[in-house]
Amino acid sequence: MIHLAVLGSGRGSNFEAIQKAIIAGELEAKVSVVISDKQDAPILEKAQSYGIPAIAVPRDNFDTRQAHEKEIVALLQNYTIDYIVLAGYMRILTSYFIRQFPNRILNIHPSLLPAFKGLHAQKQALEYGVKVSGATVHLVNEEVDGGRILGQKCVPVYDSDTEESLSQRILAVEHQLFPEVLQKISEGSLKIPMEVKA
Ligand code: GAR
Repeated sequence: MIHLAVLGSGRGSNFEAIQKAIIAGELEAKVSVVISDKQDAPILEKAQSYGIPAIAVPRDNFDTRQAHEKEIVALLQNYTIDYIVLAGYMRILTSYFIRQFPNRILNIHPSLLPAFKGLHAQKQALEYGVKVSGATVHLVNEEVDGGRILGQKCVPVYDSDTEESLSQRILAVEHQLFPEVLQKISEGSLKIPMEVKA
C-alpha cells in the first residue's frame, strides 16, 4: 500500500480515475491529501466528495514561487506520503520543491515523451502531423517533462482530429495509465530507486 498526495490545478479527472481504481481494488494505495494552486479548482470538490482532505494554496497569496512551494511542503508534512502525483498540476515546480522529494514525484503528460514537452502537447502533435500520440507517466526532475519514463500508452491520430477530439482520446488512456503505473510501484514490480534528499 502506497500513500499519495495529489496536486492538481483543474478538473481532476486523473485524480478521480486513481481514486476509482483504489475503490475498485485495482490499486493498492490511499490518497492522503489533494492540494490545488487554484481556489476554485473542481479537483478540490471531487476530493471532498470522496472524504479526502482538499486544500487550496492559491499562488496569488504568495510573493514568490518558492514561498508558495514552501507552504505546500509544510502542508505535506502533516500527512503520510510516499509519492506526490501531479495530475494536471499546471505549474512548473522549482528545484527547491523537486529536491525535497527526489524520485518521489510523478507527472502525467498528454504526449509520448520526449516528443511535445510543455503546454498544448496535443496541439503540438497535430501541427507536427504525427499519426500516433498518447500519454506518458514519468518521474519529475529539474528538466520540464524530462524525467525517466515509467509508462506510456499510445492512441492513433486521425486526419479528422481536432485538438479537442485528440485530447479526449488521450485522456481516456491517461485514466488507465496512471493507476496502472501506480499499482506496479505499489506491488513492487516497478522499482524506483531511493535517492538521498539533497
Ligand atoms: C491531463 O490531460 C494531463 O495530461 C494534462 O492536463 C490534463 C489534466 O486533466 N497535464 C499536462 O498537460 C501537464 N503538462 P485532469 O485535471 O482532468 O486530470
